[in-house]
Amino acid sequence: MRFRHFLAITGCSLAFLVGPELVAADEKPTESASESRYETRLRHDPNGIGKFYMGREIARVMGWQAAPWLERPEREKEEKLSSLVKSLEIKPGMTVADIGAGSGVISAMMAKAVGENGTVLAVDIQDEMLSLLDKKMKARGIMNVTPVLGTEKDPNLKPNTVDLAFMVDVYHEFAFPYEMTAKLAKALKPGGRLVWVEYRKEDPKVRRMIKLVHTMTEAQVKKEASQPEFGLKWKETIDVLPVQHIIVFEKKK
Ligand SMILES: C[S@@+](CC[C@H](N)C(=O)[O-])C[C@H]1O[C@@H](n2cnc3c(N)ncnc32)[C@H](O)[C@@H]1O
Repeated sequence: MRFRHFLAITGCSLAFLVGPELVAADEKPTESASESRYETRLRHDPNGIGKFYMGREIARVMGWQAAPWLERPEREKEEKLSSLVKSLEIKPGMTVADIGAGSGVISAMMAKAVGENGTVLAVDIQDEMLSLLDKKMKARGIMNVTPVLGTEKDPNLKPNTVDLAFMVDVYHEFAFPYEMTAKLAKALKPGGRLVWVEYRKEDPKVRRMIKLVHTMTEAQVKKEASQPEFGLKWKETIDVLPVQHIIVFEKKK
């Protein structure tokens, strides 16, 4: 595989495939256990950050050095990204937010779906990812994608402005999932949708491919998203992808 070769050259490794070690974007010590919402454990999965939220260990962030893996040509066959975009029923003119946009693979697809009167807000916490994304959009002449630099706790989106916010292989990496979900819910218009796309932890085939902390069960996503203060309600789980859940929540009107 070509990307394995790239990894060998650069000394990097993949964040969430079973097998090689992780690319960590940030090795900083994480939140102290004093934050009651989170718990820090010394014994933990080496692919996680030792910080737990609602019984789940948070995964390390995939470093920008692994961007070529997001761009791999076989990704469409493996993940069926075009089915994901289709299943979300994007309408021309919508404002959609690609949270944890990485190098912009899905932002570029969404840009086409929302059309020239629509906007894609591509949010990431790694400047390097946003530079890669920006270069890609310029090279392809895509004008309706706006890069947004977020923080671990805040996607920096204006309240009540977003029709659809989605997170593809991202949420399990949030160092502050509670704070992020609260802010994302605020950014949605009433009736707007927040979408989790996560590798299916329930599926033994997926567990053989993807490191455990980079997978989530549908039940865990629902538990975390359904906290009343977020004002979100589960709308549907769309079962069209080979290895991921698409779990859709809606902001209550
Ligand atoms: C595995 S990559 C997925 C990229 C993209 N969604 C895709 O599927 O091609 C995860 C991305 O989430 C970003 N990320 C992690 N925590 C974040 C946060 N709190 N806010 C925004 N982005 C975040 C990382 O920097 C990384 O670019």
